[in-house]
Amino acid sequence: MCGIIAYIGNKPVMPILIQGLQRLEYRGYDSAGIALVEEGELTIIKTKGSVDSLSDLLRESKHQAVYGIGHTRWATHGVPSDTNAHPHASCDNKLTLVHNGIIENYKELREQLISEGHKFISETDTEIVVHTIEKYYQGNLEEAVIKGIQDLQGAYALALISAQEEKIVLVRKQSPLIIGVGEGECYAASDIPALLPYTKKVVILEEGDIAILRKDNFQVINSEGKEKRVEVIETTWDAHLAEKSGYPHFMLKEIYEQPTVLKDTLRERVSEDQLLLDEADLGDLIPNLRKVYFGACGTAYHATLVGKLYLETLCDLEAETEVASEFRYRDVPWVKPAVGIIVSQSGETADTLGVLSRLKELSYPVIGITNVIGSSVSRESDRTIYTRAGPEISVASTKAYTSQMLVLLLLALSWSKKRNKLNYEKERYYIKELKELPFKAQQVLDKSELFLEIARELKEVKHLFYLGRLQDYYTALEGALKMKEISYLHAEAYAGGELKHGPLALIENNTPVIAFLSNKSIAPKMLSNFEEVRSRGGKIYLFTTLDIKESSFRIVKLPDSDMLVSPILNGLVLQLLAYYTARECGASIDKPRNLAKSVTVE
Ligand code: AGP
Repeated sequence: MCGIIAYIGNKPVMPILIQGLQRLEYRGYDSAGIALVEEGELTIIKTKGSVDSLSDLLRESKHQAVYGIGHTRWATHGVPSDTNAHPHASCDNKLTLVHNGIIENYKELREQLISEGHKFISETDTEIVVHTIEKYYQGNLEEAVIKGIQDLQGAYALALISAQEEKIVLVRKQSPLIIGVGEGECYAASDIPALLPYTKKVVILEEGDIAILRKDNFQVINSEGKEKRVEVIETTWDAHLAEKSGYPHFMLKEIYEQPTVLKDTLRERVSEDQLLLDEADLGDLIPNLRKVYFGACGTAYHATLVGKLYLETLCDLEAETEVASEFRYRDVPWVKPAVGIIVSQSGETADTLGVLSRLKELSYPVIGITNVIGSSVSRESDRTIYTRAGPEISVASTKAYTSQMLVLLLLALSWSKKRNKLNYEKERYYIKELKELPFKAQQVLDKSELFLEIARELKEVKHLFYLGRLQDYYTALEGALKMKEISYLHAEAYAGGELKHGPLALIENNTPVIAFLSNKSIAPKMLSNFEEVRSRGGKIYLFTTLDIKESSFRIVKLPDSDMLVSPILNGLVLQLLAYYTARECGASIDKPRNLAKSVTVE
């Protein structure tokens, strides 16, 4: 995934491009570059390394250009290098572009273009795009783009400029691109936060849209060149939401936002005595539904494990969930009537979108649960339920995870009603639990000192285990992922009953075991699993809503909550543990090595 920024107006473009790229760096940060046009001359400055290295390169430059494009890269084809950095230019250096996505037929196009005399200097798939547009360019950029993109296969968000025309042309196909509408100026970016300091008026480009930005107007056309009417929406996200607001890391800010986020996720969906999740209302399909097929990756996948348990417990409904990169290629016995539920914070994860398309091909109705308005998941789903978590900048997903589970709980409760499995008393019971959730989340955050103390013990370890059963096992999976991806400590999650079938061999003196226990019915079994660990010298850190008295364990008592709600509260526990441990280890936290915020490649 990469970040694109573009501007055309009356202000010097360079600082706008650099500041925009700094806000987009979470999307990719192995190289960066900008292109601008001044008096008919195209200038490209690009470098391997961060946006700050690019900014250092530009410190002495005196460019006064008023339109240009910028890019921060997460390499997919071609190693991070100055040459492979974007923007890429045509042979005559009259055209240039930046790209987010993957061109799948770039090899054959490259050979074809070389045979037609084009010279390539990079190893990227992107460079074939600018040569393809150059091939059709006869003085009108959008006309050349309409022709050129017919040759391309794959995913591409593009921003292009020509030295001969004062405009910016955008294309959106399977990768997001948003226009920012200013006074006598236009912006474009890969996501909304990069635009917030300049404008809240945005146009979210749709699949296949082509846009032409000029100083004082913009047009959106389709692939036949016909103008489209588009809606300029006023986003409610403020610039400060996309900044750290005084926290040392976006991740900690986003962890602490969760009481508010949970309130926002519930807003208008729960009244005093009624559940109102209209977005999930699929009419009379629900009472006879036989199955749900989930599609998700990583943390979102862990949320769907909890979602599956909700559907089983509350709706007596079967659900299939597996990581999207596996599920999309499986030939499962497809049953009907069934519904697809796609869960994705970014709404752009390639493997998750692969499952979405598969479910659509099989004519299943699809509900998308996503955090980003106008994302591919929201456009391609039949129904969309927004998590309303606000921009999640840190690569490690936190508030999106807990809000995804909350949406899944709301969905399961509303479907449970439709399937006559939730009587009025039960509904009121869960409404009370839901309304208390944001306050209980704050109570967990108020224990952060305890998590910090434990983190100080964990930072010295090389391996640690996470244990749980049922919903606590799914919490353990997410806990291990969070710890791995930001502290780089090796962590494994196991179902409590599974340890003795092999992994117990790894438990030795002082091996830390992080355990979750929120389900009374299986407490005795879990306690005997803990004994297996303790008797081999392992050290138990138990996070529980139950009253467990065991002096040899480090026990953190969590706020009482229904066992279906506990995974949401445990989400904050595992996040704080991972965060503080990573901070104690001196890790970078918001931008973990090798990872990007949204994996838009397969
Ligand atoms: C979460 O901490 C990870 N960064 C990663 O597993 C992420 O959840 C996964 O890539 C899915 O992303 P999505 O929710 O945007 O689809």
